Amino acid sequence: MPKLLLLEAMGNTGEYILDAARHLNAEIIVVTHEDVHEDWYSPTLKAKIAEYGKLVFADFSDSEGALRQLKELARAEGVDGVVAGWEFLTPLVARLAADLGLPGNDPTRSLSCRNKRIMARAFTEHGIPAPRTVAARDLGEAYTLVRSAGLTYPVVVKPSEQSGSWGVSVVSDDEELADAFVVAQSHIFQMPHGIPLDPHVIIQEYVGGTEFSIETVAVRGAVTPLFPYDKFTTGGAKRAEYGHTVPAELDAAQVAVLQEAAVAAARAVGITNGVAHTELKLLPDGTTRIIELGARLPGDHVVALMRQARGIDEARIYVQIALGQEPVLTPTADTAAGIRFLTPPRGGTLRSVTGLGDCDAVALSKMTVPPGGRVRAPGDNDSRVGYVILHADTAAEVNAAAAQVLANVSIEVV
Ligand SMILES: Nc1ncnc2c1ncn2[C@@H]1O[C@H](COP(=O)(O)OP(=O)(O)OP(=O)(O)O)[C@@H](O)[C@H]1O
Ligand SMILES: [Mg+2]
Repeated sequence: MPKLLLLEAMGNTGEYILDAARHLNAEIIVVTHEDVHEDWYSPTLKAKIAEYGKLVFADFSDSEGALRQLKELARAEGVDGVVAGWEFLTPLVARLAADLGLPGNDPTRSLSCRNKRIMARAFTEHGIPAPRTVAARDLGEAYTLVRSAGLTYPVVVKPSEQSGSWGVSVVSDDEELADAFVVAQSHIFQMPHGIPLDPHVIIQEYVGGTEFSIETVAVRGAVTPLFPYDKFTTGGAKRAEYGHTVPAELDAAQVAVLQEAAVAAARAVGITNGVAHTELKLLPDGTTRIIELGARLPGDHVVALMRQARGIDEARIYVQIALGQEPVLTPTADTAAGIRFLTPPRGGTLRSVTGLGDCDAVALSKMTVPPGGRVRAPGDNDSRVGYVILHADTAAEVNAAAAQVLANVSIEVV
């Protein structure tokens, strides 16, 4: 029975990885911190780990210490593969896999898949189409670099190493840049593990057009793109994702542009054995710009959407690559699926969510905050109170049904 080491199982991809490993008859060792396990693991997740394998505690805030500990553990246990269930650990997974001689990404470039400052440098070096980016340690430097790079407003301000749209702002003048800079620079530790983050703030050219995501799969250096899918994000100063539809309705030429860019980007940041999640924009002139790439599975239950719409299980693919097995990338279905997040109109206490009526396309609806729970003002991915998953024959049908569901739902906050 192969043995898989999973670094962090909280969040929705952890469960997909656990289930995929289970179906592949792999034994699983989940590594997390004791406090994170206590505070963040649901009873279902804890039960799955107890059933499928075992739990080991580590301190990820000390990456060198964790690397030493996990190398010893993996050798003693005879581990066959290492995967990350949380994107902040993808550089550690790359180093661990390389040290153990197991399939993984290039450890010397693993930070360029995680840190947007280093990623921007890698994209420039490899000629990957991406927004022009500068990185500053203080506001004075930010103004100087913005001017010397010839960036004009609007620009996008973000932390080098966050996720979930936390600290990301689109700003229109010097004053807004100053405010956004303070917000972006406040992200200095990644909770709940307390991982220290790069204090540089990055400032980017604002790219218009339409946003998509695409997954790529790398096996022994050969990178294969899957299909682009819609990523719906709010407009305005704060950009929060409010949904995804798999696949996007695009013509063959548009698909090819996005696929080629995603493959080139994955190569540029050393994705050699594993999956990558790329977010990119398609411009009206038919060109594309890469917004970011992670050496990880997609979040937001996109794994389930792809499985439902196309019969492709990316969690299974990821585990298979880590274990040195050959993944199957051929779709077995030709339908569409989508997710929409339920977001409150403002922060406060959630009173009720009503109007989530029956609709043929709704496969699942779930509340993630109970009535009486605190909710954040919309602005990042943490303000969601629930979600709806839809399934239909085509993306157009999914999108129409989703619009109907969102129009009917009413979220009351006091
Ligand atoms: N340079 C840019 N031009 C236009 N829009 C951008 C740019 N950078 C970011 N955005 C918008 O802001 C969103 C969040 O930015 P980004 O993906 O870099 O941050 P993140 O914290 O990694 O977000 P997430 O984890 O939600 O994907 C993007 O999906 C995109 O809609
Ligand atoms: Mg992103």
